[in-house]
Amino acid sequence: MTAAAKIIQHKVPGVAPRVGIILGSGLGGFADAVEDAIALPYGDLPGFPEAGVAGHAGQLVLGTVGKTPVAVCQGRAHYYEHGDASVMKETVRTLKSIGCETLILTNAAGSLMEESGPGSVILINDHINFAATSPLFGEKGNDRFVDLSAAYDADIREKLSTIADDLGIDLPEGVYMWFCGPHFETPAEIRAAKLLGADAVGMSTVPEVILARQAGMKVAAMSIVTNMAAGMSKTALSHEQTMEQAAEGARKVIRLLTAYLEGDV
Ligand code: HPA
Repeated sequence: MTAAAKIIQHKVPGVAPRVGIILGSGLGGFADAVEDAIALPYGDLPGFPEAGVAGHAGQLVLGTVGKTPVAVCQGRAHYYEHGDASVMKETVRTLKSIGCETLILTNAAGSLMEESGPGSVILINDHINFAATSPLFGEKGNDRFVDLSAAYDADIREKLSTIADDLGIDLPEGVYMWFCGPHFETPAEIRAAKLLGADAVGMSTVPEVILARQAGMKVAAMSIVTNMAAGMSKTALSHEQTMEQAAEGARKVIRLLTAYLEGDV
């Protein structure tokens, strides 16, 4: 059990979330959907990150959505903040320690799919680790050799797709390619990414997926498209644009997640 997990159990006796959720840029509002919410600042939880990027809060929200007890991480740390891919290690392991069997991740991403522009949502079905680093560097033991051949849970994807159909939300599946950031990609890199099979590009999520799979958690992830990837539109890329464009996609993700958690997870 992690030190943070012990603190959480002490502060919130009987806490037993089943689903952990890590919210990306612009998605902090999902925490408002949590009922009977208790918020613990990351600063009280050893190993949890300082939430460094504008648009990220930095607290763990415990409560329920529908019938499902959840633990919502409002804010994440990124590899590019310190050059350390293991910054989310304690967070993911703590979610597992306090009972989460499933981890759902959200992020903001650039789209390589012409038909999925800003405001759309992509359901990630696989990834390409183009940052070529691991949150598990330096770990000992055989469980560091994590199987990623079915990293994004097929049952959860099917449920989310059905929910999306019911809600009339377009939810194409796609491959997420992790770039280290914090700079955006060049048009040449995006052409290369396309050739390699990417549908979306972003600067997060993959380390948490690796950690969650190592911990034996089921994983699902959704990207909010904030922009067409570099070179695919005339708009210059900026963090301001990312934040501005996140709102429409965020509303869709919040509806999808809420409906998922209100059902039988
Ligand atoms: N590239 C990488 N990360 C991103 C992008 C992008 O185009 N948009 C939002 N996050």
